[in-house]
Amino acid sequence: MDGRIQEILITEQQINEKIKQAAKWIDKTFEGKDLILVGLLKGCIPFFGRLMTSITIDFTTDFMVVSSYKGTEKSTGIPEIVTDIVSNIKNKHVLIVEDIVDSAYTLKYVKEYLQSKGASSVSIVTMLNKQSGRKVNLDPDYKCFEVEDKFLVGFGLDYQEKLRNLPYVGVFKTKKEGK
Ligand code: IMP
Ligand code: MG
Repeated sequence: MDGRIQEILITEQQINEKIKQAAKWIDKTFEGKDLILVGLLKGCIPFFGRLMTSITIDFTTDFMVVSSYKGTEKSTGIPEIVTDIVSNIKNKHVLIVEDIVDSAYTLKYVKEYLQSKGASSVSIVTMLNKQSGRKVNLDPDYKCFEVEDKFLVGFGLDYQEKLRNLPYVGVFKTKKEGK
């Protein structure tokens, strides 16, 4: 285990199992619909990659870079679209693929933004949901895991842009907890 991790919260095997279930939900929910998966970079990368290979229905893909945390442990509350999608999503069913929903400031903003581009529907699938961190009223349509209010890293989640490569989700060792 990486020394910067306090404990492994979710193993790679547990993640893989939940991703397969999420893919089944997507197959069932969007069957016969013009679906586009929009991944929120960079945190979505491992989740998106495994999820897409488990989905069997047709879909297209696109990505956005939206920053809110600015690489720190605290949210600024105001998201910023750094890189926009390039696809025309008019009359398409959009499924946003996110690593973690915390305050939901980011998702609320992105959801409304994609709706304003004429999407038929905008839904959200997230690997992790931190319900206790919620600041605005918005819930994912599908979540793989409910997590406590701790700062997590790995499987896409970063601390100052690092640790995204850990093959599990772990609790980050903050200085305070190092006693
Ligand atoms: P929200 O707008 O507060 O929901 O923040 C969502 C984004 O903040 C996520 O997509 C992550 O990039 C980041 N984030 C939230 N919680 C954590 C965490 O525990 N570890 C790492 N990044 C996090
Ligand atoms: Mg993210």
